[in-house]
Amino acid sequence: MSTLSTLKQPASLPAHLTQTSVGKKILTAVTGFIAFGFVFGHMVGNLQVLIGQDQYNTYAETLQGLGALLWVIRGFLLLAFGIHIWLGIQLKLENWAARPVAYKNETTQQASLASRTMIWTGLIVVSFVIYHLLHFTVRTTNPEYADLTDSLGRVDVHSMVVLGFSSYLISAFYLLSVGLLCYHLSHGVASMFQSLGLNSPKWQKRLDVLAWLAAIVLFAGYAAVPVAVMLKLVSLPGGGI
Ligand code: HEM
Repeated sequence: MSTLSTLKQPASLPAHLTQTSVGKKILTAVTGFIAFGFVFGHMVGNLQVLIGQDQYNTYAETLQGLGALLWVIRGFLLLAFGIHIWLGIQLKLENWAARPVAYKNETTQQASLASRTMIWTGLIVVSFVIYHLLHFTVRTTNPEYADLTDSLGRVDVHSMVVLGFSSYLISAFYLLSVGLLCYHLSHGVASMFQSLGLNSPKWQKRLDVLAWLAAIVLFAGYAAVPVAVMLKLVSLPGGGI
């Protein structure tokens, strides 16, 4: 009955995307793709820490120099992240409501651990991002970072990152969080393509491999920075750390 009335009065695209399960999955995939794009770009940007202080501070200054455009990009990313998280929670709640008693056998066996823990890995990553913003962007946890400047008088983001990761505890926390993010993506990347229609059994295997490759590359890229600081391969300009 409800299918017939849907056919008679086609829902508008925004209503379809936000109110039907298929629509929500598509929107989760599209916003996930945008978030993935940011995560990949941020990793490439951060790897410049390994090149040196001048390179990384120039990169940070260039981003800050975007001015109003930077705020437009931040707003767009925040909206995409927000929709992704909101729909992820909704889909999980709908899933629980549809199956109040967890299956003990076949479905659970087929679904990977990464896919079953998406909501938890996702929520932990959100908590990490909040901490990360307080640590390196707003600098509430370490207000002294705001006074760091390099020899050209620029904000010394390089020294901030080196000082940040000179704590083994903080480095370990970042490694764990980035590990969980990559575990989330090891299923998310494959699921994203499946939600957009590439869901034949032939493609499933390839997408699973692609998703794991993407997760491993991201983990290596993100882990390289704290690991390089802990191994003292990257240090303060005067060699202080
Ligand atoms: C080793 C790992 C990481 C390092 C070294 C790092 C470094 C940084 C630094 C230095 C900033 C501040 C830039 C500035 O104020 O000029 C920043 C901002 C940010 N980072 Fe990270 N980050 C890491 C991991 C991550 C991860 C895994 C995520 C997301 C899942 C993330 C999301 C963000 C966001 C959303 C911002 C704010 C960007 C903005 O100011 O518009 N970061 N990061």
